[in-house]
Amino acid sequence: MVENLFEQNLLWAVLAAVFWAYAARGARTLATRRTDRSVRRRARLGLVLVTVSLLVLAVRVGLAVGLAAAAGWRAAADFVLLAAVPLTLAGVAVAVFTVPAYLRLARVIRASGEAPVTGPAPAERRAESVPAGTGRFGGQPAGTGTADAPAASEPSHPHPAGPDRHGGPDGSDVAAGPDASGGPAPLPPFPAGPGGEPPVPTAVRAAAADPRLVVPVRACLVAAVMAAALTLHPPTPSYTGPFVLELAVLAVVSGALLLRQQQRRTTLAAAGWARPSRARRLLRPAVLLTSVLLFTTAGCGLMWRDSRLPDTLGGAQHTHRLDLGGGPAAGHDAARTVDALTGPRDERPARRITLTATSRTMTLKSGEKVRALAFNGTLPGPELRLVRGETTEVVLVNRNVEEGVTVHWHGVDVPNAEDGVAGVTQDAVRPGGRHVYRFKPPRAGTFWYHSHQQSSSVVTRGLFGALIVDEPGARPQGVDRTVVAHAWPIADARGDGGSPGGGPPRGGGALSGQNGAGGLLRTALGDSTRPRTETVAEGTPVRLRLINADNCPRTYSLAGTSFKVTALDGNETEAPSELTGRRLRIAGGGRLDLSYVQSAAPVRLTVIGDANASSASHGFEGCGEDGTYGAGRVETASLTLAPAGTTAPAPAPVDGPVFDPLHYGRPVATPFDAADGFDRSFHLVLGNSVGFFDGRPMMLWTVNNAVYPDIPALLVKEGDLVRTTFVNRSLDDHPMHLHGHRMLVLSRDGERATGSPWWTDTLNVAPGERYEVAFRADNPGVWMDHCHNLDHARDGMVLHLAYDGVTTPYEAGRAGGNHPE
Ligand code: C2O
Ligand code: CU
Repeated sequence: MVENLFEQNLLWAVLAAVFWAYAARGARTLATRRTDRSVRRRARLGLVLVTVSLLVLAVRVGLAVGLAAAAGWRAAADFVLLAAVPLTLAGVAVAVFTVPAYLRLARVIRASGEAPVTGPAPAERRAESVPAGTGRFGGQPAGTGTADAPAASEPSHPHPAGPDRHGGPDGSDVAAGPDASGGPAPLPPFPAGPGGEPPVPTAVRAAAADPRLVVPVRACLVAAVMAAALTLHPPTPSYTGPFVLELAVLAVVSGALLLRQQQRRTTLAAAGWARPSRARRLLRPAVLLTSVLLFTTAGCGLMWRDSRLPDTLGGAQHTHRLDLGGGPAAGHDAARTVDALTGPRDERPARRITLTATSRTMTLKSGEKVRALAFNGTLPGPELRLVRGETTEVVLVNRNVEEGVTVHWHGVDVPNAEDGVAGVTQDAVRPGGRHVYRFKPPRAGTFWYHSHQQSSSVVTRGLFGALIVDEPGARPQGVDRTVVAHAWPIADARGDGGSPGGGPPRGGGALSGQNGAGGLLRTALGDSTRPRTETVAEGTPVRLRLINADNCPRTYSLAGTSFKVTALDGNETEAPSELTGRRLRIAGGGRLDLSYVQSAAPVRLTVIGDANASSASHGFEGCGEDGTYGAGRVETASLTLAPAGTTAPAPAPVDGPVFDPLHYGRPVATPFDAADGFDRSFHLVLGNSVGFFDGRPMMLWTVNNAVYPDIPALLVKEGDLVRTTFVNRSLDDHPMHLHGHRMLVLSRDGERATGSPWWTDTLNVAPGERYEVAFRADNPGVWMDHCHNLDHARDGMVLHLAYDGVTTPYEAGRAGGNHPE
């Protein structure tokens, strides 16, 4: 619902500008119409158009205000201040001045229509107008005039001069006096219209040129254009500056338009006015159009220039600005660098692992070729099984991956220096190089690892794997099976699958429908896009660890059994209840553990939706209509678990409602909750903006209307209790991933989370949704906080969580070749 309002808001922003453009043109050209009849017709039309445009404006204003009410002030403050307020001001002016002016014009027209019958002057006037038309319609000019005159059809007015004779407060109608008074006043010099139609009486012309009729409508157009521009490319908060500036521009322009229109009316109502030549009439719009084009081009040029990333992005926070979240400014804590925040460097590691990255074409088990990047020669990389608290050493070796490699332990809260982000916590490892990571996994659960250098390109092609942390001494009972879902770019199908030349793929943002990999995507569970069956004895407890290593949320079906959701993002659920027929949705980068006891019947896990839906049919909407790559289609990959010798067919996918963690399981005490006082509160509005990223024009995915590196870093001090509100007013899902910390979900759309504590490191925020989360700032460093749709991250949907006093010696950017996304 809210999601639709945000979409409608974009649509009506544009509609309002278009409608007011027509209304303004109609109002302005009314006074220079050629014939009496045309003025009459256009006046009627103009009033209708103004009324309709006022309705469009009301919808636009209503949407902005409604959104602020429904999604929170911060989610729509810019729409209210920069669109609703100026539009309302201009709209009120139209209602108060323009609508009565149109009605007044109608009366003047009626009055002037009677004039020919009542006095000698009109007769003379008609006589004078005859010659112009005589050439073609000699002999019956009066007849033509009468046929078209409103007097013939409209009720006669007792006072031909009309009640408006004495004008409004500004004397706007005074000019009409001499002409319409019926006396031997100066004759109107207008030539007859085409076909010998009667000319436009001066009184009518003057009433049509009334500033009250014209200026508010044109001011409304100015407001609607500014509002549309500021909706499509909204400024960053605070909005006070732009708001004041916009109102000032509106006031100054309206003033100028008023002066101009007063002049114009004098000219138009004066004796001897002649319709300007065609060339002159074309000159004005030409000049206007040229200046608008020049202005737009200059604006775009500036935006383009500002969007280009500097060659190095380094220093303390990688960003110029800090968001304090209502807490104290930086400068209190002792200075440290990321390099000092390492894991256990002196202890003897209990476990040693080597990950070797190679680039080569590989074949999935199901036969498809992938121009792959692989860890240890497998797709996906090897499943790492670690033990909580055990000192682990991982040696990363880059054999020949041109892009460079790092390893990030997604969801594992390691010390900052071990976090594996190129340009933030280390330099990318070049071909032939190596890097050693040391850490003790602090919690058991289901995680994953992946390269964090040009991640949108290399993760798609294979530089990732599952990472499971077990409790010490706990041996998994029954079947403990990890299932990684990933959409592979297939090299031997349509498209070339991958990024030839090794450079980062250049996406086109929201409008391009690019999936970052190009080519056809096929979803695999593990290394196969085909159905697969495994034997599980009846009565065996089964734990399935689902990992979504994809950009978009994926929807799963587990059919043939009831089950429990035993963990979310590696965090155990308290007292999970039994579920049947529920589908499961996992954020891009998220994890979910299931458990059930195998019966005699087969149980089948499938992924619903087509991975290509995002790039093909849902170009604009990224991840598809309901954020799941389309609803109906089922991918061919599936995993069937059944006792040996079962002959029953594998069950069809379930079609029930999607599992919702908000109220699932039993609440238990948490280290903090919504009732606590927060040291800092951050508001992150996820949106769209038409603009540039690094010199490329695109529909941007923004945070508080900005993209990297202009999104202020969130500043915290060690020990702070931090609340973050995410609101998604964009057209796609955003799986928001915070490094180094886990977040506790407090509420969604204002509804409190009441089940088992919902801890997450990768929270999918769907269009229209609002989440409140909290975390304790207990892991100092400079941390990434970004959208895990890695294509969005590549295009700038990245910010940092920065601890007071912590700086990084590493730099991102072209110069050093570190490109985290
Ligand atoms: Cu899984 Cu910053 O990433
Ligand atoms: Cu995103």
